Amino acid sequence: MCGIYGEVGRGDVLKNAIDGLKALEYRGYDSAGIAFFNELQRIKVTKQKGMVASLEAKAGVDRWATRCPLSDPLDYNAVIAHTRWATHGKPASKNSHPFKQGRFVVAHNGIIENYKEFKTELENRFIFQSETDSEVIAALLEEEYSKLWDSQFTVDEFEEGFIDILTRENKDMTLEAIYNVSKKLKGAYALAILSEDVPNTIFATTNNPPLIVGSHGDATSTFVVTSDEAALPANSQIYRLKPGEIATLDDNAIKIYESTGEGVAPKGDPLFQPIQAKQQPSKDGYPHFMKKEINEIEKSLRATLESKDTEQFKRVNEFLKTADTIYLSACGTAYHACLLGKHYIEKNLGKQVVAEVASELRYMEHVGVALEGDPHKVAAIFVSQSGETADTIAAAELFKKQGAKIITITNNPNSTLANLSDEVININAGKEVAVAATKSFTSQAFAFNLLTGDTCVNCLEPFFAEAKRLQENTTQIKELVEKYKKVKNIFFIGRLADYATSKEASLKLKEISYIHSEAYQAGELKHGTIALIESKSVVCAIITDPKIKDKTMNAVYEVKARGAKTIVISPFTELKDNAVVDDFIEIRNVMHDLIPILSVIPMFNFAYYFSKQRGIDPDKPRNLAKSVTVE
Ligand code: F6R
Repeated sequence: MCGIYGEVGRGDVLKNAIDGLKALEYRGYDSAGIAFFNELQRIKVTKQKGMVASLEAKAGVDRWATRCPLSDPLDYNAVIAHTRWATHGKPASKNSHPFKQGRFVVAHNGIIENYKEFKTELENRFIFQSETDSEVIAALLEEEYSKLWDSQFTVDEFEEGFIDILTRENKDMTLEAIYNVSKKLKGAYALAILSEDVPNTIFATTNNPPLIVGSHGDATSTFVVTSDEAALPANSQIYRLKPGEIATLDDNAIKIYESTGEGVAPKGDPLFQPIQAKQQPSKDGYPHFMKKEINEIEKSLRATLESKDTEQFKRVNEFLKTADTIYLSACGTAYHACLLGKHYIEKNLGKQVVAEVASELRYMEHVGVALEGDPHKVAAIFVSQSGETADTIAAAELFKKQGAKIITITNNPNSTLANLSDEVININAGKEVAVAATKSFTSQAFAFNLLTGDTCVNCLEPFFAEAKRLQENTTQIKELVEKYKKVKNIFFIGRLADYATSKEASLKLKEISYIHSEAYQAGELKHGTIALIESKSVVCAIITDPKIKDKTMNAVYEVKARGAKTIVISPFTELKDNAVVDDFIEIRNVMHDLIPILSVIPMFNFAYYFSKQRGIDPDKPRNLAKSVTVE
């Protein structure tokens, strides 16, 4: 999680850093910070709670106040910047990166697991401003560097004024300090580091989380370090740091140093790869990316069908039919797509499926038992929009290590997850920017249907047309939001596939409107949760399966009897006139197997308008990030 951006060069590196951070906000936006050299070659750190836009204003003021030489084309400067998703310590300016201790300033992605053992001891010599694990790295560097510095000289040499000729040694000692501190740290880290003893130079290292060094677009003498190439303009030449490597970026070059265990040795110029030109995502006139993406559901479903590789789908289908065990795993919304996937595999292929969230699956005993048998008979399907979710990747790696076949359903066929998979199914839904997943969910569920069913692909026009009608049908949804805007709890109920979509509808509502919401299997309500139902409750039932329609309606009767307001989403129009149904949202009767995929679309719109009604930015709800890269 979190995003790092650093730059060394002439001209407005501060502006480039702010622009770079904005492109990284999908990794977290609890707070942001920037560090740069002022005219006295001291490092000024500016931090701000909230999004990068707030930092931009503050950094602009600090830049002039400190006479930071950033706009003179002849001046070089080095800047490091960070956008944070809080892990250790609440979202606050004091917990924002970069952190300064002594002459060192550090921006960190990842989690240092053993920071406490150092912090307690360092507290005798350093004053820590934050609750983070990351600030400890800056203190460790300062401590290590001071030791190296002290060991260079005798008191006599100091008196003779040797210090003036030590510029190069400062750089070498800094490299050595970084190397020594890296050996002490346990956990995950990518670091961008500045030192007041080595002006206008960035040091960067990683032990796993992605960190890229390279040039900034066509500006071949402007060097950058970032956690994601998304922060770079087209034509930038990049090199992905390998675990243990340390890079230096200064006004001349980027150099990579390998940690060999015997100090640091220069390796020479890295081999750069150009990045592809990319289009900046645009809202295309919509007020938010989320609304744009809801309105792209139909287009994305068509694209999922178009990108279907028939041979591959046949191969995977055959494998699923012969597999001894089938696991489906993912996180959040993608996990809800797995629940629909389970429904389709069990219904269409008659095979039993285990669907588990990725952060749990790895620790389950039955996984070990299945993999100890014949791992080639284990099918493991992982679903991820980004393909970069740490929990999902960790689960996939475990299965891969044991020899299971890894199948990935993703919107990013170049992702880490895709790269470790045997089969990659590209849902091809188009870039999804809003934190809340929408069109990726419907396309993932559709991919499962195409993989397992005997869907007549020439009969899909009504399905696409209904998706379009639902995504654009906002009049009724806005009325519902107005009607229920004061409620504090909304429950979603359904059975089987409708339970999967109930969970997704509930997640979407809570994550972008902050309303409390729960999803239950309709039959389970009466076994406890019904105690929560009273006259101010709203219960939304999703009913798309004729086989269980009456049973789910029983639950609607039960909550109505206790005073709840009820919404029913269904293709069964006779329910509209039922006295216990207050509001009816119709899904027109397309192919029965596909209706569950469509039933969630009205609730995407419901969550979106609810969020807007409450004055929340639906694209960037609090505490969340688009890509969750910590376990
Ligand atoms: C919710 C949402 C998240 C993601 C989850 C997994 O709207 O978007 O729950 O679904 O973080 O992300 P991916 O699919 O990128 O692995």
